[in-house]
Amino acid sequence: MIKFILKSPLSLLYHINKTGREFCRAGFISTALSEGIYDVLAKGPASCEDLQKAIDTDFNKEGLLAWLDLGVSLGELKRNQNRYSIKGKFAKELLKPANDTWKAFFQARVEIFHNYIINTPSQLKRHEKFEFSQSYGELFARSSRTVEPFLLDIVDEIIPQTGECSLLEVGCGSGIYIKRACDRNPNLNALGLELQEKVADFARDNVTVWQISDRVEIETNDIRDFTSENKYDIITFFNLIYYFPVNERIDVLRKLKDLVNPGGHLVLTTLCPTNEPSIQLMNLWSSMTEGCGPLPTPEQIIDLFKKTGFSEFQHKKLMPGFFLFKASLSNSI
Ligand SMILES: C[S@@+](CC[C@H](N)C(=O)[O-])C[C@H]1O[C@@H](n2cnc3c(N)ncnc32)[C@H](O)[C@@H]1O
Repeated sequence: MIKFILKSPLSLLYHINKTGREFCRAGFISTALSEGIYDVLAKGPASCEDLQKAIDTDFNKEGLLAWLDLGVSLGELKRNQNRYSIKGKFAKELLKPANDTWKAFFQARVEIFHNYIINTPSQLKRHEKFEFSQSYGELFARSSRTVEPFLLDIVDEIIPQTGECSLLEVGCGSGIYIKRACDRNPNLNALGLELQEKVADFARDNVTVWQISDRVEIETNDIRDFTSENKYDIITFFNLIYYFPVNERIDVLRKLKDLVNPGGHLVLTTLCPTNEPSIQLMNLWSSMTEGCGPLPTPEQIIDLFKKTGFSEFQHKKLMPGFFLFKASLSNSI
């Protein structure tokens, strides 16, 4: 032991151990969540056989035991005789239903962004971006609720409480902002556009549960293919601009401008690059995903608005790296 200590670069070993442990812990917790293993353990201690049933395989029990014992060595699981239970405080917090958004935020880092971190250089060598995977739609829709408090306040600011009002929400996700707009104004009608079928179905189900289906329609469509006879008083375009390549953004905004009623508004929020890992991860994801593009700078959005021909526009920083832009059409147009 003394020989090992004297011969080893202790500081280096300390950092390898610390970083490696956190890396393993993140992978273990995220996978235990996504594979339903924590769902079983949340109900009480379970044996390896119980967990084999939960993940629906009887193959290589020793493999699952090794995986569970890794969790014990990381301090994430406890083993009492042959039964395992959850020990880690972080995992227990994530499992609380009230923390679902943060659970999805954490899982997105491990399940999606980690792949981008380790495979971006090799993808670039192959001249390839990552495919846009619809399978992540639900995880993204849940984790993008982290900015929900800001966006709910914005809806309250932009939706008049009285009078007829028509709203088009592009990329409506769960539909939560449409609900808020309907709660605020009983005369408001809304159309939510959503590209991904599964996410659109989720929004439709929500609209039924919220009992606003008489005023709200959800259409599965790409805004680029969307046609309408109607114009809208307010169009919301929340956290979506980076789902379009840089050279297509002007056409999308022109299309939205043509869909705004005179006197109406286009309200856009977006992450913008800052020196913060969470935001840089989104920038990596959007820069490296097929059909998407880098996060825009505030100046780029303002420049797009100018080129699109809106008569006036304002912007404000909601928090570091997260901005609101509002463009308006004059009544005389
Ligand atoms: C990051 S999520 C934001 C969801 C919601 N607006 C929010 O802020 O919570 C972007 C959503 O827009 C949808 N979307 C992406 N490209 C789209 C397009 N071209 N037309 C319509 N919806 C699109 C995605 O499927 C995704 O659900």
